[in-house]
Amino acid sequence: MSDAARQSDVLIVGSGAAGLTAALNLAERFRVTVLAKGALNEGSTAWAQGGIAAVLEPGDTFEHHVEDTMVAGAGLNDRDIVECVVEGAPAAIERLTRLGVPFATEGNALHLTREGGHSHRRIVHVADATGWAVQEALQRAAEAHPNITLVPDQVAIDLATSRHEQRYSGAGNVWGVYAVDRGTGRVNLYTARATILATGGAGRTYLFSTAPRGATGDGIAMAWRAGARVSNMEMMQFHPTCLYHLEVKNFLITEAVRGEGGRLINPTTGKRFMSYYDAERMELAPRDVVARAIDAEIKRYGLDYVHLDISHQPADFIRGHFPNIYDKLLGLGIDMTTQPIPVVPAQHYTCGGIIIDRDGRTDLPGLYAAGECTESGLHGANRLASNSLLECFVFGEACAGHIAAHWDTLPPVPVIRPWDESRVTDSDEEVVIKQNWTEIRRFMWNYVGIVRTTKRLERAQHRIQMLTEEVADYYGHFRVTPDLIELRNLLQTAELIVRSALHRHESRGLHYTLDYPETLAEAVDTVLVP
Ligand code: FAD
Ligand code: SIN
Repeated sequence: MSDAARQSDVLIVGSGAAGLTAALNLAERFRVTVLAKGALNEGSTAWAQGGIAAVLEPGDTFEHHVEDTMVAGAGLNDRDIVECVVEGAPAAIERLTRLGVPFATEGNALHLTREGGHSHRRIVHVADATGWAVQEALQRAAEAHPNITLVPDQVAIDLATSRHEQRYSGAGNVWGVYAVDRGTGRVNLYTARATILATGGAGRTYLFSTAPRGATGDGIAMAWRAGARVSNMEMMQFHPTCLYHLEVKNFLITEAVRGEGGRLINPTTGKRFMSYYDAERMELAPRDVVARAIDAEIKRYGLDYVHLDISHQPADFIRGHFPNIYDKLLGLGIDMTTQPIPVVPAQHYTCGGIIIDRDGRTDLPGLYAAGECTESGLHGANRLASNSLLECFVFGEACAGHIAAHWDTLPPVPVIRPWDESRVTDSDEEVVIKQNWTEIRRFMWNYVGIVRTTKRLERAQHRIQMLTEEVADYYGHFRVTPDLIELRNLLQTAELIVRSALHRHESRGLHYTLDYPETLAEAVDTVLVP
């Protein structure tokens, strides 16, 4: 890796929708380095199925989209931010189309599908593999740009801050990151005048999650350790319909299946059950409502799963709308044109995160953030389906705009100390990492899941306290590895989730606790200060 890539104008950690959007918006004027911790397309973006929400239908309005977002978010959203993102959607879709994303069409218009919580058809999509097409188009454009250097296999450990300056200035700036190279095992220092965290979510804190392996909350944990506030970490979204299969653990069945008529059925009674939980919206109620309904049916009848059935639709219609899901299920012996699909809820999206303002600025000078690692005010207590890719585009661009407009005020990078490995050795007990990783994910699933109680949360907190000492001791003595970095972040993120959940004495949106079942009159963010 060249020195130029290690000393760029702007450093972006993350090569998904948020990171690459920011990079493409900066590259005309600045030298940009983009890091990914594995392959460039291994984030959640490439896994997105349903699509991107945008008001494009004649009968639809921005007000409807804003209202649907606020209803799903149980009033915890920031209306100004919701309006700004919703109004930015049509332009974002246009830019993606120009980049070559082959959105599905119907006649001369884009085909719009429907998802839970949306009062209108407004989901722009590429069949049932929207994220893959978006990732490919953004990556192709970034790879072709001479000012963008994409560096895979660099696992950021921590932010380089004023604390790491050779001559301490006390200004509190962020100057880049230290990252371990998966190939060499060496720790590299990447510096820049501005750093953008676009590291995605923290889904892998839970045993069952639709998110990819790398969703370990790294950016949230790094920002927190460096002194940035985080918010609403208790708002973990569980997707109602993840495939239940003994070998395939995290395959999502898109909400668009319900949007196109899919029905949820209790396999014991053979009855459609959503009418008992939300008679008006049925299968298209917001995700928190549907996930809790499935959880309740599973617990009440002692089930392993419920059925999602769309076999009443014509076979050609199903194959045409859901070609990838159809193929995947057929490979597992399930023909969705004639059979119901066994499904369970699984963690899906991290609504909370690093607090950012409208320009993507965090609390720390020189540090910006965008996408799933942030809490921008858009999602509130529960994200409306297909609003998150949209958030990545809007805030990726906002960060870039602010950096460009304020470039002259960003101080040049001082001399930063290299990573110090003089007091550590190679680990001789890798089993500790594996054991702790599994333990965290299991107690988070059992104690901090869809339905919570104070007692369960306290149990989780107690486990976290014990593991924190163990992991800190391990981190202090052994050379960092990607697995150790992720374990440390997973644990930190779990701690933030549990602390936030204990803090909220009500049930709202995704946070549902038997000890405080009521929703308070006033919606207040849970803000944690380092
Ligand atoms: P990601 O795309 O997750 O990218 C994170 C990047 O950060 C990666 O490049 C990763 O390598 C890098 N990174 C992380 N940690 C480090 C580190 N320590 N060092 C270096 N690099 C690091 N949303 C929708 O709007 N519509 C949908 O239809 C939809 N479907 C979904 C389906 C699935 C199965 C899942 C899991 C999510 C879905 N979502 C959907 C949510 C959406 O995909 C994500 O919220 C969004 O893609 C997040 O993009 P991002 O750029 O913030 O992060
Ligand atoms: C889905 O396709 O159901 C996922 C959509 C989303 O997470 O926004």
